[in-house]
Amino acid sequence: MTHTYNIVDHYYDVIVVGAGGSGLRAAIGLAEKGLNTACISKVFPTRSHTVAAQGGIGAALGNMGEDSWKWHMFDTVKGSDWLGDQDAIEYLCSNAKKAVIELEKYGMPFSRTDDGKIYQRPFGGHLTKNGEGPPARRACAAADKTGHALLHTLYQQSLKHKVKFFIEFFVIDLLFDEDNSCKGLIAWNLEDGTIHRFHSHQTILATGGHGRTYLSSTSAHICTGDGNAMALRGGLPLSDMEFIQFHPTGIYGVGVLITEGARGEGGYLTNSKGERFMEHYAPNAKDLASRDVVSRAITMEVNAGRGCGKDKDHALLHLEHLDRNLLKKRLPGVLENVESFLNIDATKEPIPIIPTVHYNMGGIPTNYKTEVISHIDGDTENICNGLMAIGEAACVSIHGANRLGTNSLIDLLVFGETASETAYNKIKNNHKHKKLPNIVTDKIMERFDSIRFSKGNFKAGEIRVEMQKIMQKNCAVFRNHELISKGIEKMNGVEDSFKKLNITDESLIFNTDLVEALELDNLIIQSKATLHSALNRKESRGAHAREDYIERDDKNWLAHSLIWINRNGNVKMEKKQVHMKTLTNAIKSIPPKIRVY
Ligand code: FUM
Repeated sequence: MTHTYNIVDHYYDVIVVGAGGSGLRAAIGLAEKGLNTACISKVFPTRSHTVAAQGGIGAALGNMGEDSWKWHMFDTVKGSDWLGDQDAIEYLCSNAKKAVIELEKYGMPFSRTDDGKIYQRPFGGHLTKNGEGPPARRACAAADKTGHALLHTLYQQSLKHKVKFFIEFFVIDLLFDEDNSCKGLIAWNLEDGTIHRFHSHQTILATGGHGRTYLSSTSAHICTGDGNAMALRGGLPLSDMEFIQFHPTGIYGVGVLITEGARGEGGYLTNSKGERFMEHYAPNAKDLASRDVVSRAITMEVNAGRGCGKDKDHALLHLEHLDRNLLKKRLPGVLENVESFLNIDATKEPIPIIPTVHYNMGGIPTNYKTEVISHIDGDTENICNGLMAIGEAACVSIHGANRLGTNSLIDLLVFGETASETAYNKIKNNHKHKKLPNIVTDKIMERFDSIRFSKGNFKAGEIRVEMQKIMQKNCAVFRNHELISKGIEKMNGVEDSFKKLNITDESLIFNTDLVEALELDNLIIQSKATLHSALNRKESRGAHAREDYIERDDKNWLAHSLIWINRNGNVKMEKKQVHMKTLTNAIKSIPPKIRVY
């Protein structure tokens, strides 16, 4: 260690890292069960990125038309392009209704039907009758501010249950013992500059996605996938990192999300000729096809010279034909955002939109019980003791190669609750905390110091933009061998620049320069994981569209990818079987077929 720190020790049964939807739901469950729990977050809980979710929570309540969790499951498996694990998807969809009703009882201010039921709107890729029927009204919504309502509801419940929070604590790394079991973590209190060692029997990573590896993203600036990077540094793999979701309707030039609920309420897309082009790409679902399909369609229209605007580089989303009062009631946030960012009145004019990075299907591999998978031996998935992951940080995998809209919010609720259950079952017979050798903490603080006292000539902000531009260009909606390989080469340059980072402020109190540098370190390793995983997968599936391998290849690639990156930066890749079997006999597994909408 180059510097001596007085480390403050804490002892908990369970630590939850992250206070977004999944972290809060887990923390509430743990507190309810009487476990000694701490929830650590780098931001105030209600500033977590869940707050930005708009359109709805997926659950087949059937409030506004016929629906069934089995149809929800079919749509999710098809939406995942058959890469989702069917045991986990069954678990998600069959538990979705219960999770939403529980949320209603927590006091969630849902929009309502005239007869007082939870309002549900259609969303992309959600259909009835196993894809054969009309769109399902399955997205349980609070206007277009569902994430905001959800996060505040969960935060209120967490206060009721007296969850112990450590707010504005930045987690530096996880603690592992000699058996590679996770024993807690080291965190930095941004407010007073102290360093803390949290000992725990179970650590639950609820650290969100890494959308900020890209330049244009609907993700908040805090979405730096810190948990994923910690897992990689701890010798664990990440799974399916090549699958980056582009949301079809980011506001052009701004990146802010326009909810898919806008098309759910009757909005539609056009090209420069005024054509409703989705009819050609998805004759049945049209504008409500799944996200990967719509994002590719927009990109193809632009590439064919039918993009809108003076640079012919975007499409238009039309809402102006819809009733003004309906728009004000159901999509107030869309109207506000379009007005604030573009000075456009969406009740009168179409909205310029462009596919924008929105979600990471990949992350820390887990089983449906939320236990982290450390390695595989043949068909056996081995777990990492003491570590769990949920929410966007995790790859369960329920979203496979492409997530359906609304399935992330239901994922947070269902697997947040499950994590608390799993942790409870594991640590019912409480045992003592193990003393770890000092070297474990010293190594973590060495990396911290190497960044804190770095005296090179590149600012973190410069390196970050360079990384984001590479990802935006070399790992976009469409990719190929040459593009990705160049991306890898350029990302090696970014890694070299990071070694020459310049940090001028060495203080520890609200040192945002240092926070950004630590986040950047986390982002770079995930960018590298994404590029290598994208190069490795030689097929097109879901959100991974290879121009040089245009077909889905179930013979060779109906498999999750796993990537490890060791301390020297060396990459190892393996495949992991997709779980094609369902969890129970309630539903039969859904065999792969051609995916058309
Ligand atoms: O379009 C949206 O409102 C986003 C929803 C989601 O990503 O689930």
